Formats: sequence, C-alpha cells, structure tokens
Amino acid sequence: MTTETHHESAPPAPPDLRERAVAALSAARARTAGLTDPVSDADLTAQHSPLMSPLVWDLAHIGSMEELWLLREVAGRESMHPEIDPLYDAFEHPRSERPKLPLLGPEAARRYAAEVRGRVFDLLEQTPLEGTALLDGGYVFGMIAQHEQQHDETMLITHQLRQGAAVLTAPDPEPSRGPAPEGPEVLVPGGPFTMGTSAEPWSLDNERPAHVRDLPPFWIDTVPVTNSAYQAFMADGGYREPRWWAPEGWEQIRTHDIGSPLFWRQEGGQWLRRRFGVTEPVSADEPVLHVSWYEADAYARWAGRRLPTEAEWEKAARHDPATGRSRRYPWGDADPTPAHANLGQRHLRPAGAGAYPAGASPLGVRQLIGDVWEWTSSDFLPYPGFRPFPYREYSEVFFGPEHKVLRGGSFAVDQVACRGTFRNWDLPVRRQIFSGFRTARDL
Ligand code: AVJ
Ligand code: FE
Repeated sequence: MTTETHHESAPPAPPDLRERAVAALSAARARTAGLTDPVSDADLTAQHSPLMSPLVWDLAHIGSMEELWLLREVAGRESMHPEIDPLYDAFEHPRSERPKLPLLGPEAARRYAAEVRGRVFDLLEQTPLEGTALLDGGYVFGMIAQHEQQHDETMLITHQLRQGAAVLTAPDPEPSRGPAPEGPEVLVPGGPFTMGTSAEPWSLDNERPAHVRDLPPFWIDTVPVTNSAYQAFMADGGYREPRWWAPEGWEQIRTHDIGSPLFWRQEGGQWLRRRFGVTEPVSADEPVLHVSWYEADAYARWAGRRLPTEAEWEKAARHDPATGRSRRYPWGDADPTPAHANLGQRHLRPAGAGAYPAGASPLGVRQLIGDVWEWTSSDFLPYPGFRPFPYREYSEVFFGPEHKVLRGGSFAVDQVACRGTFRNWDLPVRRQIFSGFRTARDL
C-alpha cells in the first residue's frame, strides 16, 4: 500500500448547496413518514425483534441526532428536552433494552422531530456553508440526511421482521430489457488504484482519505450470487458439510438449526420466503438475500471460490482501466438515476441478476450499487490517515476483526448514503440485514 499519488474524479459541480441539503433532508423525512405513518401506535411502540428498537425509538432518535449536531453543535442552542436526551443515545441503551425506557409516544416523537426540523430549516437559511469542518460543503447537513436514511433502512428491517399483514407496498423492478452480461465473471487487471476518497464532500470519516492500493489481478462475478445458485449449494448438502464453514459459522448454524437464508421455509418440496408480510415462492434469478457472512463464506468455499476483499470490490466498482482514475460510481461520476441502480426503496426487493446494464462498471460488472449489500472478506478497519470525524462513535469504536465490511448498498438504501466508497459493517452472524454477496478468485 502506498500513498504517493492518487487519482479520483471530483463530483460534478454542486448545484446550490442549500437546495441540495433541503432536498436530502426532505427526502429522508418523507421516507421516515412512509415507514411510520401507516403503522398503528401499538405497532410503533412494540418490539418486533430483540435485534431491533421499537420504531418509535428510531423516530425520536432521528430528531435527537439532528438536534444534537445542527441545533446544539452548529448553532450553539440549549437542549430542547434535556431529560429525554440520554434515552436516545444509542451507546447508553442497547436495542434490546429500549422498549423498557420511558420513550416519547408516537405523537410526541413525531412532534419533536418536526419541531427540530423546522428550526433546522431556519438555520440552514442563515448559516454560511463554509468556515468550519462541519459546515464546509454543507457536510453536517449531509451527514444528518444520511443518518436519517440509515435509520430508515433500519426501520425497513424492522418491517421485514414484524409479523402480521403487509403495511408497505411498492412496484416490482421491471424485467431488464438491456443486453445480457457477457459472461459469468470479469477479470480485473492487477496494478494500483485509488481507494477511498478525499474529494466527495459528504463522504463519512471511514471513507477517507483517498490512498493508493496495488492489487494482484483477480476474477469477480459479473452479478451477485442468485437464489438458484444458492439453492444448488443447499441441495448439495452445503449446510450439513462442516468443511465449507468457518468454525464459528458451523457453530452458529448448528446452535440455531439454520439450513436456509433467513425468512425461507420449505413447503411440499418448494422453497417459499416471507417478504414484508407476504409469502411467495423464492424467485430463481434474484440475488440471494438475508444471508450471514458465514453463509456467504461457506457458499464461496463450496463453489471453489472466495469472497472478494473490500479493496477488490472497490476496484471492480470504481477503477477505470482506460484512464487509471477511480470513479464515484461504476457507471461514472453522475449521481444515480433509476436506470443505474435499484436504490431508495423504490422497490421492496432486489432486481433479477443482470439488471441495470446502464449501471455496469467499465469492465462490465453489474449491480455493484443497489439491490443487495455485498459481504466482503475484509474486517472493518481504518484507512491509512483515518481521522475520526465528527465523533468517534460513528466508525472508530467499531473498527476491528469482529465486524465485516459490506459494500454497494441495497434496494433499501437511499442514494445520499450510497456511493463507490461507502462502507457498511456488521457482525458476521447477522442476516436480518439486506445482505447478499458475489464471489471472486485469484487469476
Ligand atoms: C453504519 C449502518 C452500521 O445503523 O448502526 C446509525 C449507521 N450510525 N446511527 C448503524 C448509524 C449511527 C450504522 N451502520
Ligand atoms: Fe443513529
């Protein structure tokens, strides 16, 4: 790894930063409303899984983070409700404890978040978007929009875990009409590329700084691993064969009697899955969803392959062999449109493998952005030159071998919180998240 030179594309000239911030904050709030308005008060305050907060906690936590960073840190205001602040500090109370706290009820939580937002819009009109690291480029407003969108994805996971009739609906992705991919895998040539970013104005601390990595050549799947490919692993006894599994993964599937992706069950020889309250046959050509890192790792070993490293994933997604530069996205530097990727909860499922030809990388790798978060083999670690910003608890306290990196975003991620450099992480046992994977191999 070297740090001498790096080449990354700058984002397009920003339209008015204030407009951009207002649009990002408003889009996030519209999505939050869509995830909470159709839900009864009883359902909003219930805990649907010990892994998740009640939805009403997310709702007020969104307001609380926004108050903390925009009204208190940036504008120097006093806390609006000092007595509730500790309830919404994610580090004081683990998710499993949150239902027992004296939380704001649904109406009070909505009112609080709306009151904060009103004051934030006033602030945004008056504040110069420069002069401090928090304000430069409108960073702290972008950070808060990303935070709300990340909790919107968390709330969507809660919807998926919730029992009972469907509350959310969305049209299915359209079948792809473009050319099929050219082959099952793509060769990424060896050599240096620029990983991470120093140019993206709303990139979070763990994505920075840009630095050069030199990788040997490798092959990577053109599309994510599909349900039908994964079912071949299952049919071949993959879940009963310890040699495919990391020891801790084998332990987990034995202890919890796991034999398929989460939310799947078998009926009369057919695999069904429950998706946001509806039970349906597992569709063969869709990327597999709701698998743990251990399941992804075991499948890859069974297939005679391996998970890509995080650096390999990013090189496949950003490196342009013609120019040697790293793009913002696989398709180039332009912000995503619905033709590029399945993002933003426009659909409630991934699109079939091979979709979005307009979103392919220069080498022809598809669906790197959107559809499913992709597990990589890498531990979540800081880049050389990492500096925590603006708080250690966003990234730094999670660095280490216990968390694995996921890349690319899912159908449940908004574009403000998704780009070629964006890093997500979770424990390797987690499978309620919108996770899938693709595989790789050495040349
Ligand atoms: C980056 C998705 C792992 O949800 O725990 C939300 C994002 N950080 N509030 C999480 C986050 C603080 C974080 N992930
Ligand atoms: Fe949070």
